[in-house]
Amino acid sequence: MVNIGVLVSGSGTNLQSIIDEIEAGRLDASIKVVVSNKADAYALERARKHNIPVAVVRVKDFPGKEAFDAEVLRVLKEYGVELVVLAGFMRIITRVLLDAFHMKVMNIHPSLLPSFPGLEVQKAALEYGVKFSGCTVHFVDDGVDTGPVIVQAVVPVKDEDTVESLSKRILAEEHRIYTRAIQLYSEGRLEVRGRRVFVRDAKAPSGAVENPGAD
Ligand code: GRF
Repeated sequence: MVNIGVLVSGSGTNLQSIIDEIEAGRLDASIKVVVSNKADAYALERARKHNIPVAVVRVKDFPGKEAFDAEVLRVLKEYGVELVVLAGFMRIITRVLLDAFHMKVMNIHPSLLPSFPGLEVQKAALEYGVKFSGCTVHFVDDGVDTGPVIVQAVVPVKDEDTVESLSKRILAEEHRIYTRAIQLYSEGRLEVRGRRVFVRDAKAPSGAVENPGAD
């Protein structure tokens, strides 16, 4: 069992999948608090519906990034959070949080890192013309989308894809692998050695995939 704090800014579908997996008894975690930098984030509604404590920390109420993070840290500590889960949190976090939660902050990113870090990455992947994209769960370090990779899932890019259809296909995998990564953490099965994260007793996938498939 792990006590988690989820940081959000928007719609919170990843938060919802974490809530659902916990309630279904498939994820050994407890969401102690949901923190948003946006008072109107729909993610907050999702948390309230499930009686999860919420906190809004507004950027404009603090003189800088460190002061903002110090307040987020205070809230996380108050609720006894052990693992910080960034779920659509649209801010770059500082050393204030990273030092307090060294290799205990996870993020989900909708591309196969290190390809397409940053924003609007599904559009970037389509425009580049890659045949596969996907999503990455990683520990957060002080770069942007650069931390050690925990789990990745691959999805094909189809000829007829739009940004919306590709994003939807990736999002479904985000929900799957994020809850899985948190469960692996909860079971104590993640071991970070330098940039590499090893998952104890994990099955290695076999074979390769290609797109377009062979006739
Ligand atoms: C997801 O695509 C996530 O990878 C990215 O922001 C989006 C958040 O979606 N960081 P949601 O708020 O969980 O619905």
